[in-house]
Amino acid sequence: MPQPCTVVIFGATGDLTHRKLIPALYNIAADGDLPSALTVVGFARRDKTDDQFREELGDALKKFSRQTVREEVWENFTQSIFYHRSEFGDAEGYTKLAERLEKIDAERGTRGNRLFYLAVAPDQFEDICLHLKKSGLNKTREGSWARIVVEKPFGTDLPSARKLNATVSGTFAEKDTYRIDHFLGKETAQNIMVLRFANAIFEPLWNHRYIDHVQITASEPLGVEGRGPYYEGAGALRDMVQNHLLQLLCLVAMEPPTDLTADSVRDEKVKVIRSLRNMTGAEVAENVVRGQYAAGAIGGKDVQAYRQEERVNPGSMTETFVALRLLVDNWRWAGVPFYVRVGKRLPKSSTEIAVQFMSAPSVLFNKGGAVLDQNVLVIRIQPDEGISLKMEAKMPGAAIRIEPVKMDFHYGTSFGKASPEAYERLLLDAMSGDATLFARRDEVETAWKFIDAIEDAWHKPPAPPPLCPYPSGSWGPKEADELLQRDGRAWRRL
Ligand code: BG6
Repeated sequence: MPQPCTVVIFGATGDLTHRKLIPALYNIAADGDLPSALTVVGFARRDKTDDQFREELGDALKKFSRQTVREEVWENFTQSIFYHRSEFGDAEGYTKLAERLEKIDAERGTRGNRLFYLAVAPDQFEDICLHLKKSGLNKTREGSWARIVVEKPFGTDLPSARKLNATVSGTFAEKDTYRIDHFLGKETAQNIMVLRFANAIFEPLWNHRYIDHVQITASEPLGVEGRGPYYEGAGALRDMVQNHLLQLLCLVAMEPPTDLTADSVRDEKVKVIRSLRNMTGAEVAENVVRGQYAAGAIGGKDVQAYRQEERVNPGSMTETFVALRLLVDNWRWAGVPFYVRVGKRLPKSSTEIAVQFMSAPSVLFNKGGAVLDQNVLVIRIQPDEGISLKMEAKMPGAAIRIEPVKMDFHYGTSFGKASPEAYERLLLDAMSGDATLFARRDEVETAWKFIDAIEDAWHKPPAPPPLCPYPSGSWGPKEADELLQRDGRAWRRL
């Protein structure tokens, strides 16, 4: 259980607070994993009383909570929530916040421990960090702590990420800085290390001698859902690949860390990003496909093209789909392609990692041109979290007929309870001072360096590669299929 503390949420009237943060805190409390002194202070610009704030959060909680809301638990929890009105750039608002936090410490026993959560757009970071520093809120008394949690997007390229990092590090030490990547909080993402390093059977095979290739897919049927202005400046590569997908790739490709401390794990992950083969403009054209959804149908319902979405430029060149062929240039992975694809308005919601093993030698059952399926280990991140292993088996009967079968592990049935939401785990970790599932400064910057080279090739002359349209409800542009066909492979059917 974390120590008692006050969680100060900047941007407390926003979507993230309503949809994720408060539901996560409530669910941790409902599971009995929060100290009773835990206090939440919402910091935002709108005028509101504590009671109004609590009521709004209560309404949102009913919609977004993982577990059914138990009135008595919420009633109790709601007493620990307060609202603090201030502009983000108003020095007095911070002086008053400091006084209020002192009072809360005295009355509620939060012991001077503070978790500042920036659920705001990155252009507010500077003001907030500056004022936290000026008001001394980043300083702690002996035996207490102050940490900052920062939401994505953490920059839009390497220079902007460096600038944000400089801003945050002027106020908080790296050890007290928690950069959220909510994919790392997903139960199955956390299980990748356990699968690899708590079992003896996989690690000997986990290299270029036995693995043919790896596919990582994150598909969503949703479109941009009113986030046009943000998405126009981001696109799928920055929105999903720079952070979530590269993080998953790191967990699959990293070497075993020397121990499970945050820095040992993150040291290994950053080495993977550093080993990604950088691409020249011509290589980007060959190895990266970008697409944009056109009109189509999802689940029998007609949906409009990206360019017709609200607050999207009708001539937009922003990608809503990207497929990449990546190489990790190190001893373990030499020559093994990692195919990564991510897209909006695809037929179904599915995030998975598929590790495809080499074919069995062509001497017995697959002799003389007979083709056998390759073994595939699939890690399903969501939905239906679990792991399956495809292998060949003989069909019952006199003749030798071989068919692929699956060994399947489902979290839901094996453990009999739903997995916690990613934000529950991440908030608990930040309160407990465990930064393992948060991105370190060098991880973020190295990832941007890699992504920037692709963005440059897309946006700079002489010949930016085409933006390939795909109908909503399809699996992306045909060029993405061709990317694998050229290597004699195909995307898995999900
Ligand atoms: C966010 C992206 O980080 O992740 C969204 O900004 C995306 O565009 C979302 O939809 C996907 O997360 P999840 O947890 O719903 O798979």
